[in-house]
Amino acid sequence: MQRTIDWMDGSVVIIDQCALPGTYRTLRLDTVDELIDAIARLAIRGAPALGAAGALGVVLAARAGGAVSEEAARVAKARPTAVNLSWGVARALAKLPEGVDAVLAEALEMLDEDERTNREASRLASEVVLDLCGRRPLRLLTHCNAGRLATVGWGTALGVVWHLQAGGFVDSVLVDETRPLLQGARLTAWELAEAGIPYRVLPDNAAAAAMSRGLVDCVLVGADRIAANGDVANKIGTYGLAIAARHHGIPFVVVAPQSTVDYSIPGGGSIVIEERSPAEVTHLAGVAIAPPGADAFNPAFDVTPASLVTALITETGPHPA
Ligand code: MRU
Repeated sequence: MQRTIDWMDGSVVIIDQCALPGTYRTLRLDTVDELIDAIARLAIRGAPALGAAGALGVVLAARAGGAVSEEAARVAKARPTAVNLSWGVARALAKLPEGVDAVLAEALEMLDEDERTNREASRLASEVVLDLCGRRPLRLLTHCNAGRLATVGWGTALGVVWHLQAGGFVDSVLVDETRPLLQGARLTAWELAEAGIPYRVLPDNAAAAAMSRGLVDCVLVGADRIAANGDVANKIGTYGLAIAARHHGIPFVVVAPQSTVDYSIPGGGSIVIEERSPAEVTHLAGVAIAPPGADAFNPAFDVTPASLVTALITETGPHPA
């Protein structure tokens, strides 16, 4: 299966997530500017995939010569919330004194590591889900896209679905459409269709109703930055889902690699939340859905307090341990 982001013949190659689900195509990125643009447009997105993008951005900068540290800093700042981006940049940049080949070798190791760690985190989480939920087969609900498209390969929250499906434990998946950029409807639904798993897309504001009707056994989400105390920044709407899940007594499970945990941040209140263009809310596929000049509140992420998280699982086990 093609990786979401890879290094081929001297270029970064990504699956163009702006084009899915209509068109499956790859983009070749040869400069730091092209990579930053792809990150900003969400052609490459999802916290673990951004970690790989950060590392490969340093490779592009190092091969171009010039002010590598400054270029790397620009990559790290392309999006502020997912800590994986600056983590990936820092890890690759640390190899610069050993030369460009060492930077590339580190980045390639990080790509391999991504799939290994996410497979393990989601395997551990699948066992937790089976312990938490008595019903078989399971009806799962997920938000945004935390699948192979959000990682180099495999996925985190959707990785749990792949493990559960292999064991015959999945009835179906409810996929929050994930306004405003529709990562659920466009990307998660595409991945589930590809895997042949039954799913239904629902408007984000129908999730609580689905829970109240007894249609959800477990909520599974990924994360963009996890504070030391277990507070979780993830796609906008995750916090509301966690509140609804707690109200209905439904397990709310977060799955992420250790690279998403930011031990320098004690609690979620200090996590920087990306604010995106009002046009993403006031327009749908380029068509205005609000009066001309309407402003919008468009935070890309929210913070779910640790107290609402039933289990937060990384490749090393539950967090906080
Ligand atoms: O804005 P996005 O699409 O990059 O947001 C992605 C998410 O919020 C994902 O849930 C998160 O990165 C985890 S992906 C394994």
